[in-house]
Amino acid sequence: CWEPGDAIRCFDKQYEHKGKCCNRCQPGEKLVSECNGTEDSVCTRCESGHYQQSWTKERHCAPHDICDNNAGLILKMQGNTTHNTVCKCQAGMHCSDASCQTCLENQPCQRGFGFAAAKAEAQMSSPCEPCAEGTFSNVSSKTEPCHPWTSCEEKGLVMKAKGTNTSDAICEAGGRSSLSVLIPITAAIVTCLVGLCIYCLVHTDPRRRVQKQIEAGKPREDPEHHPQEVGEDGLPVQETLLGRQPVAQEDGKESRIAEQEKL
Ligand SMILES: *[C@@H]1O[C@H](CO)[C@@H](O)[C@H](O)[C@H]1NC(C)=O
Ligand SMILES: *[C@@H]1O[C@H](CO)[C@@H](O)[C@H](O)[C@H]1NC(C)=O
Ligand SMILES: *[C@@H]1O[C@H](CO)[C@@H](O)[C@H](O)[C@H]1NC(C)=O
Ligand SMILES: *[C@@H]1O[C@H](CO)[C@@H](O)[C@H](O)[C@H]1NC(C)=O
Repeated sequence: CWEPGDAIRCFDKQYEHKGKCCNRCQPGEKLVSECNGTEDSVCTRCESGHYQQSWTKERHCAPHDICDNNAGLILKMQGNTTHNTVCKCQAGMHCSDASCQTCLENQPCQRGFGFAAAKAEAQMSSPCEPCAEGTFSNVSSKTEPCHPWTSCEEKGLVMKAKGTNTSDAICEAGGRSSLSVLIPITAAIVTCLVGLCIYCLVHTDPRRRVQKQIEAGKPREDPEHHPQEVGEDGLPVQETLLGRQPVAQEDGKESRIAEQEKL
């Protein structure tokens, strides 16, 4: 496409050299010699410890950053031929500026400020954040976040003093609100007691009946053990009715109870 005298136009991944379009070197490579009438551009890989990120006509690759421990930096990601090494600050430090060439030690978060884990992770600034409305920090600490104010209502108390960014809300007992907690609790206890009474009545009633029946019909139910008593009782019809129906199912219990009562 080259026309003498005119500015020539090359493709994105090309550059102009002596009126010719030469190919650029790909990322990870650097230029060794320009193209001419017969030869293409010659490129070569970046040497170790160097990188080159874009399509280039540069003859040099840039050296990787070195993470300087004395500046508080440690390796975050090792570089390769296309990417620079990435450093980060040691734990408990943050970058001194946007370029992050050096790090500063995190200071304790003052009263009214809390530790913010996300800011600490990002390391771009101090990890302390001012306590937002509804939270407080009453200590100077490197780890304590802002804590929400105590909710007096949830505890059934009345707020005596509103919280600030450095102090918790102060609660005090209030007659009306403590009553509003006592009433449902009392109601619950009463309900439980009533339920328990009903349960006891239902489950002990049949046994009591059985026991009464045993007492009434004792002599007749144990004819083998106390044969002489059979003759003494004079109401055979009544005893048959009592003895045959519910009592017959609990033979074992009857005899045990009967024996205990004898003792
Ligand atoms: C083109 O460049 C190559 C090296 O890249 C060189 O050997 C050759 O002589 C050059 N040809 C011309 C015509 O300049
Ligand atoms: C170089 O490292 C980057 C990340 O830093 C990665 O995405 C890329 O694939 C690596 N390239 C090679 C050739 O290893
Ligand atoms: C805490 O509250 C006081 C008074 O409302 C205010 O002056 C101060 O700036 C606040 N501090 C922070 C860290 O938000
Ligand atoms: C900070 O507030 C908490 C909760 O109200 C309290 O238990 C603690 O004693 C306070 N600490 C200081 C140093 O004021």
